[in-house]
Amino acid sequence: MTTPMQAAQAELEAAFPRERLVLDREKLEAYGRDESELGTFPPNVAVAVESAEEVRTIFAVASRHRVPVVPVAARSGKSGGVLALQGGIAISLERMNRVLEISPDDLIARVQPGVNTGLLQAEVEKHGLFYPPDPNSLELCSIGGNVAENAGGPRALKYGVTREYVLGLTAVLPTGEIVRLGKRSIKGVAGYDLTALLVGSEGTLGIVTEITLKLLPRPRHVATGLVVFPSVAAAARAVTKVLTAGILPRCLELLDDVALAAAARTSAYRFPADAGAALLVETDGNDADAVFGELVRLAEVVQSDAQGDVIVAQNEAQRRDIWETRRYLSVNLKTLHPLKLSEDVAVPRSRIPEMVERAKAVGARLGLAVATYGHAGDGNLHCNVLFDRAEERPKVDEAVAEILRAAVDLGGTITGEHGVGLAKRDFLAYEQGEAVVALERRLKAVFDPLGLLNPGKIFPPA
Ligand code: LAC
Ligand code: ZN
Repeated sequence: MTTPMQAAQAELEAAFPRERLVLDREKLEAYGRDESELGTFPPNVAVAVESAEEVRTIFAVASRHRVPVVPVAARSGKSGGVLALQGGIAISLERMNRVLEISPDDLIARVQPGVNTGLLQAEVEKHGLFYPPDPNSLELCSIGGNVAENAGGPRALKYGVTREYVLGLTAVLPTGEIVRLGKRSIKGVAGYDLTALLVGSEGTLGIVTEITLKLLPRPRHVATGLVVFPSVAAAARAVTKVLTAGILPRCLELLDDVALAAAARTSAYRFPADAGAALLVETDGNDADAVFGELVRLAEVVQSDAQGDVIVAQNEAQRRDIWETRRYLSVNLKTLHPLKLSEDVAVPRSRIPEMVERAKAVGARLGLAVATYGHAGDGNLHCNVLFDRAEERPKVDEAVAEILRAAVDLGGTITGEHGVGLAKRDFLAYEQGEAVVALERRLKAVFDPLGLLNPGKIFPPA
């Protein structure tokens, strides 16, 4: 007797050239993992597609045999979005990695979903243009994943998140419809904003095969600095002072004491032993003096709360040193404790000190180290629960649950940028309420009546 999956696989083998199918068990394991640390859930088969029509072919096969489908590309996600929880067919978008068009006249780019985000940024910069969103993983991630998760990152403070740059897209729905949504103009309010709905839908409503992105003129100058504070509360106070002083830096990144201790392992900077926090700050614009002047003004505003002088990068190498202090945090935290779960809660900015305090208190009560860093300017914090042994996991999960609930209780959200995925599906109703979640489930059923696309994500099983 053939199973539905075997029947589907036979059809895929007939429809696609052999080299575009992944059937090897070891390779499939790799397709079943991402950066969420939630385990390995391999698909039964992966198909590397090259067009929207091919995605439609796969949906037709999947619908005939009622087998699940999951989209996958760079696998750098943090919430388990690409994990094939029920096996099935992975649609790999890795081969759809072309920049189709960069138009300096329209200030847009048209790209395929598998384009590496760092590469896209480098390409548009050659034209004097700028694609701001950088999820802090731009060597790894692809633009399709950024769109699926509505990725944020350090520059969101001034420039906004991925959704603000997606003007239009082409998506294949599980029903086989190929829809072109949005526009190529900046403005456009015709009908419902389905483009915005698809952005951040975590690969549960359709598979995006082309994206039209808004670009900006590239700011010609950037100034970067690092400020140390005696406590997180002092750093948080400084964030508020900066923003209320009418300064809008492009980044305001916080590192707490545990994060600083980890960063010190590789950082070019020596932090005072009693440092309680640091802020990484960055301003940009077209006038070199104005950009530098804004950083100096920022330094003046925070000086009374700071500990020691503000470090200002004098050249590219020093800028890189400062950013590496932040970029390598994840790796460095793992040298303190080999295992960690990283959350991405967001709270109103005035609640940042309370959020950090609550996360620490949870850690203290359960005997776990908690490091907090992240996009303080947005109130978006990465609370990292650190641990040493897999057996500690139930305690870690308890800590995470308390941190997520604390964020909601402070008027914030369980996820500011990584998505709900598998990681936070049990907490969605705590944030949104049952009625809203029920509405979202009905919406999902309109796009995916058979429930075959990325099942088990965002919503807990019914
Ligand atoms: C960061 C990613 C993990 O900000 O969101 O480093
Ligand atoms: Zn982040």
